[in-house]
Amino acid sequence: MVNAKVHELLNQQINKEFYSAYLYLDISNYFKARSLDGFANWYMVQAQEERDHAMLFYTYLQNENMPVTLEAIAKPEVTINCDMDALVASLNHEQYVTSLINDIYGAAYDVKDFRTMQFLDWFVKEQGEEETNAHDMISKMELFGSDPKSLYMLNQELAARVYAAPSLVL
Ligand code: FEO
Repeated sequence: MVNAKVHELLNQQINKEFYSAYLYLDISNYFKARSLDGFANWYMVQAQEERDHAMLFYTYLQNENMPVTLEAIAKPEVTINCDMDALVASLNHEQYVTSLINDIYGAAYDVKDFRTMQFLDWFVKEQGEEETNAHDMISKMELFGSDPKSLYMLNQELAARVYAAPSLVL
């Protein structure tokens, strides 16, 4: 039996992850309009991963016989005036999501909900990777973004990212 507070936070996280997908779709759309298709691909794959994250929370609640309540997904709150704006918004968002995962983990810890903690362990690791990726994107843009030839090469590199289903299966 999942604690009411833990349940509420898990349910909210479904919405937060779908919002993340929406945010990355918006960023992908920005890069598509810039004709940086590699960047657009990278963020499209990111959006797909976020939908997977949402579905993992959705399925976990169902498996625990807890009601799922779907709420409206907010409009992406990001102002992108240049490429770096998009990359910084991505890092800020991942740091925020990490704080959300930590909050759920903390609530589960408080009530000795070890099953939810075990479920969240995958997300704790995933958030580490997501933040590292976001940092790397900023570093690469700082290094190469001002040189058109280098930006072209970086765009080619990002075009190679392919979607892979999450390693966590429920
Ligand atoms: Fe679902 Fe980007 O964390």
